[in-house]
Amino acid sequence: PGHDAIVHYAAESHNDNSIADPEPFLRTNVEGTFRLLEAVRKHGIRYHHVSTDEVYGDLALDDPAKFTEETPYKPSSPYSSTKASSDMLVRAWTRTYGLRTTISNCSNNYGPYQHVEKFIPRQITNIVDGVRPKLYGRGENVRDWIHTEDHSSAVWDILTKGRTGETYLIGANGERNNITVLRMILEAMGRDPEDFDWVADRPGHDRRYAIDSTKLRRELGWRPAHTDFAEGLKQTIDWYVENESWWRPAKEATEARYRAQGQ
Ligand code: TYD
Repeated sequence: PGHDAIVHYAAESHNDNSIADPEPFLRTNVEGTFRLLEAVRKHGIRYHHVSTDEVYGDLALDDPAKFTEETPYKPSSPYSSTKASSDMLVRAWTRTYGLRTTISNCSNNYGPYQHVEKFIPRQITNIVDGVRPKLYGRGENVRDWIHTEDHSSAVWDILTKGRTGETYLIGANGERNNITVLRMILEAMGRDPEDFDWVADRPGHDRRYAIDSTKLRRELGWRPAHTDFAEGLKQTIDWYVENESWWRPAKEATEARYRAQGQ
């Protein structure tokens, strides 16, 4: 009593951590989802599963295609393979036990309260610390950026209006390559846009992610509110500058892990 739904956001979500030590990803993402599904089965409540576009693998840089709900699963990393596994558990439990579930697969989030291990907050907080940002490989990998508040509004729409048994892709047409994003951050923080270090590439690094969110927009009428990426990035930079006490405790250990990997 007192609980209408579970929205399962909890995950080990960082690819680089999954490459260095995959086991916690199996525990949290696969076993953790299993536990929640069993609880949902027992209590008969609505369940929404938050997942990632990375379950679809990657796209070539020059491919006009984007991921849709019909794209076959082809995960590349220990992280994305455990998220793909968790999605499969949700589908099997839904069909076998008749659970009322939905799944969303979202593209790369940015905004406040993101862990400093992730690309955008890592570079902002490095610049705050007077450390040069670190770019993997050739900086050509493309990510489809969406503001975290737009991700949340889409999850709310799916939870309240979505058809159970369905999957919805969430994205806001925010494709940019990493070097472009990094130069935008450097310029917005008053630095030379070339003032960064090239570091070792991530093993198995996915080239490009891109989401076609037509189904979500047509069926549920969802629209992103943060459509100006430069403005969203500026607000995110301001948030990290003003909220150092939130991210500072995780910063040193995060950078120590990256140093050990040569990144
Ligand atoms: P990340 O935030 O780890 O998200 P994901 O791997 O899930 O897309 O990384 C986003 C992109 O930025 C990815 O292509 C890897 C790259 N990257 C860097 O170039 N430098 C960094 O320091 C980090 C953390 C990521």
